[in-house]
Amino acid sequence: MRIPTEIIQSLNEQLNRELYAEYFYMAIAGYFFEKELRGFAHFFLRQSQEEKEHAMRLFNYLVEKGVPFTPLPIEAPSKNYASPLGCFEAAYEYEQRVTLTYYNLLKKVREMGEYDVEEFLWWYIREQREEESLMQSWVDQLKLAGEDAAAILLLDQKAGKGEKD
Ligand SMILES: [Fe+2]
Ligand SMILES: [Fe+2]
Repeated sequence: MRIPTEIIQSLNEQLNRELYAEYFYMAIAGYFFEKELRGFAHFFLRQSQEEKEHAMRLFNYLVEKGVPFTPLPIEAPSKNYASPLGCFEAAYEYEQRVTLTYYNLLKKVREMGEYDVEEFLWWYIREQREEESLMQSWVDQLKLAGEDAAAILLLDQKAGKGEKD
């Protein structure tokens, strides 16, 4: 079954959003390296790598469906972040926006009876749930730490080790 053009475009936009996330998290990692908060920097590098994998999953799906790849421009993320909390809040906000775009697409493919695409998209719905939960948890922990440098350093260490809570 061929995928309708409208859906191909949307899948390609999702791929672009995943690539933007890769770049965005790389930019945040850069901010943390500058601040010598290397645990958080490595955390965001790992997230960046994951986003690349999300983009590749979409790429591979489009290839499997015989769709020619159309590259779109990737927007440059900001390099200015106010604080560690600000970084995680920005990431959490972006994850929620991405979730919404997957919801909208899922709704559309359901209405169109595109069940193969629908089945493919469920993976992303689950992945978004995990990522939102992860970012939210770090936002909450950094809010608790407040301006306490020792607490922030402790969280930085924890983030570097890949511990969530
Ligand atoms: Fe993603
Ligand atoms: Fe994500």
